[in-house]
Amino acid sequence: MWNKHQVVEQIIGKKKKQVKTKGKAFAPSNIALCKYWGKRDAELNLPVTSSLSVSLNHLGTVTEIMRATEKDNIVLNGIELDEHETFAKRLVTFLDLYRPHPGFKFKVNTFNNIPTAAGLASSASGFAALVLALNDFFAWNLSIQHLSILARMGSGSAARSLMHGFVLWQAGSRSDGMDSFAKPIDIEWPEFRIGVLTLSHSEKSKSSRQAMTETVDTSILYKSWPAQVNRDLDLLLTAIQNKDIQLCGETAEQNALSMHATMIASWPPMLYWLPETVSTLNNIWEMRKQGIPVYLTMDAGPNIKLMFEKNVSAKIQENFKCEIIAPFASFSNLNPHKKER
Ligand code: PMV
Repeated sequence: MWNKHQVVEQIIGKKKKQVKTKGKAFAPSNIALCKYWGKRDAELNLPVTSSLSVSLNHLGTVTEIMRATEKDNIVLNGIELDEHETFAKRLVTFLDLYRPHPGFKFKVNTFNNIPTAAGLASSASGFAALVLALNDFFAWNLSIQHLSILARMGSGSAARSLMHGFVLWQAGSRSDGMDSFAKPIDIEWPEFRIGVLTLSHSEKSKSSRQAMTETVDTSILYKSWPAQVNRDLDLLLTAIQNKDIQLCGETAEQNALSMHATMIASWPPMLYWLPETVSTLNNIWEMRKQGIPVYLTMDAGPNIKLMFEKNVSAKIQENFKCEIIAPFASFSNLNPHKKER
């Protein structure tokens, strides 16, 4: 069994000694069309299956890193965090992997431009931006694969947040995880849209991390998950290639609902859905019956993301209070890897 320090040592080795005054980077948030659900190694966040996502363009996290004098200092959206806060503790533990010597302290200034109301996970873009900012700060000049591996060890889905557009995270099979990283899919779909429907702002009752572990350990339905993913990845790649919204939407929707089915069947059972979630699902299915090609996906929470094409945007806005994101619209940001697509 490998630990994170050994993996970091493999990737960074002797590189980590020099420091710039400041490191800065942006990483986009992402939504999985085929979900990452279940780990084969919890220490390194190695997934049971591959997954596929779309990045949310300019929506994500900007992170700056500097050297601090006495203690680590974590600032989130302009507010200095108490060292006992869960987010600060998670970041500091991750930073422990990169200190040139134990007394080296970091100042991390992180800003999410994801509207707080959007109910989108920020841990993916957060850890991806942190790794990119560290890469800048220490002038490591790492490859996108190595950066993806480091981001994955912060939060699994962060492996996919280093790139724009459609992204495939291959599960890999090595015990050190050196073959488990994300790669961009070189296809643009300018009409593709994501609609974010925020049905609840409250903190989730159980972290995705915990729900994932309990599902793998106790849900008999989880046994069928790898076969579901194999089928869905093939279908999604075909759908993206052909810009086939029906195939893409139906596959992603079924994938998300299957993931929820595995957790509903776990013990203790986990149901993230609220009454509003169920009524919105019914509204979406009703719209489809009326001939509007709109599909949904959901992560470990009650909020819903819609998938559709630009030509039905007006209809979507008429029916739902949602923020519409165009993942392939041109953008300007600080991500040094945006040209790698
Ligand atoms: O990266 P984590 O540990 O927060 O897990 C993310 C899990 C899902 O959001 C439910 C699925 C995914 O692929 O993003």
